Amino acid sequence: MKSIIIIGSGLAALTAATRFSRTYNVIVLTKGKIDNTNSRRAQGGIAATISPHDHWKFHYQDTMVAGCYYNDKQAVKTLVQKGSDYIQQLIDSGLTFDCDSHGQLLLGKEGAHQKRRIIHAGGDATGKVMMDFMKKQINDQVVVKEEHAVLDLIIEDNRCIGVIACKQQKELQTYYADHVILATGGCGGLFQVNSNDSSVVGEGLALAFRAGAEVSDLEFIQFHPTMLYVNKRNYGLVSEAVRGEGAILINNNGHHIMNGVHPLKDLAPRDVVARAIEREISQGHEVYLDISMIDQFENRFPTVTSLCEQAHIDVKEAKIPVAPGAHFLMGGVKTNTVGATSVNGLYAIGEVACSGVHGANRLASNSLLEGIVFSNLLANHLINKDSPPVKKPFTPKQYNLTTPKHRSLPTIEEIQQTMTTCVGIERSEEGLLRAKHWIEQFNFQDYTRSKIEAYTIEQIKTINVLTTCWLIVTSALMRTESRGAHFRSDYPLTDHEHWSKQIIRHVSEFQR
Ligand code: SIN
Repeated sequence: MKSIIIIGSGLAALTAATRFSRTYNVIVLTKGKIDNTNSRRAQGGIAATISPHDHWKFHYQDTMVAGCYYNDKQAVKTLVQKGSDYIQQLIDSGLTFDCDSHGQLLLGKEGAHQKRRIIHAGGDATGKVMMDFMKKQINDQVVVKEEHAVLDLIIEDNRCIGVIACKQQKELQTYYADHVILATGGCGGLFQVNSNDSSVVGEGLALAFRAGAEVSDLEFIQFHPTMLYVNKRNYGLVSEAVRGEGAILINNNGHHIMNGVHPLKDLAPRDVVARAIEREISQGHEVYLDISMIDQFENRFPTVTSLCEQAHIDVKEAKIPVAPGAHFLMGGVKTNTVGATSVNGLYAIGEVACSGVHGANRLASNSLLEGIVFSNLLANHLINKDSPPVKKPFTPKQYNLTTPKHRSLPTIEEIQQTMTTCVGIERSEEGLLRAKHWIEQFNFQDYTRSKIEAYTIEQIKTINVLTTCWLIVTSALMRTESRGAHFRSDYPLTDHEHWSKQIIRHVSEFQR
């Protein structure tokens, strides 16, 4: 039987694992526990054209408008046309979404959607319900190895044939397979305030880039407008579905801050709302979600209510303090619509991939949809494809980490501070150059797979994170315009003439 390695354990990863398990030996390698994923944290839901008043063309249009028409049209069409069928398949296999008393799916609304089309589960616990369901779908053919962080990919003759992983922070192990799928998620954990699981720091991008895969659009990082933020502490996401049910953003003077900023006001695209909140905060104001108009808030939003309890915020007082936080990476490892990267045998799905579906700014609740659609399309593609089996070495290479030399490398907190200060909601050449020079002082480019034994596991992990940061910073420097989630205060306008193209990065630029 052929074999496949899936790196990550979010929705895209487990959907792919389930599909491949019928025809492949599947190993899922995940650096933390299987539940340490962003998918599990998703609150709002999953967008799909289910309502008789809706049509995939409206969903297509909303995705394109939110993405500033920078999206790949074919990828968007694929997403919105195939989405409802894959959701129906999940429902048919037993996944339960929230329904009314007649058994009709309840449809929520979120920013920049012209229709109610957000399917949800457990009120605002959609990700948790979906991931619990997916975990049950995995059968005996899938081996899940928790606490196995992948440090590098094994490439031979421009084909990815395996990975080097470290088991529980201790020993290095090699795994070979016919195909390797990256499903490592985004990079929100690189910023101080974020909605992500703390393990999500973007190393999949570094692995792919070093392996020679093209990466693109890394300057487009979405900041979610509303993290629950109390006394300079972030307690987690307050779903956009809260604004979908009527909540409005006010400052401490009671002023409705989205008035006059955008015709869609509080449901404007996320980059617009996040910048408006950031502006208020930089002027010394506090920003709140006024939820006074939402009946039975606790029942509709149990996850948000529980976060508020942890932060000692009483939802009955109807004012939730908020600030923006890093949420989603639109760019990633460049793929086509079946998840193929530019390296043979290496595929990418979910947030780590960049099929171009999100353009410059993702439409709310399109990410779980992306996870299920593109993982299924990859499975359809590979299961029917006749590729030559990989030549696995008879004895896997053994690695001995001897006594590597001391290297001065930054902590994750120092990295987050630099990324937040210099590469946040608003960027400028001055800040981006500062971040670039700061990252480059750590000589992360000296690392190569052939030198792996000269490094500690922690050092390689940090080098992977620095590589990803460097890719984001240098991409943001190159794009001398503002578009969607990438806002340059020194280039505040969109430059359609020069910048309607993707910035594609290849490892050849990396060598000094
Ligand atoms: C939310 O519930 O606001 C997050 C949904 C998303 O990012 O798609």
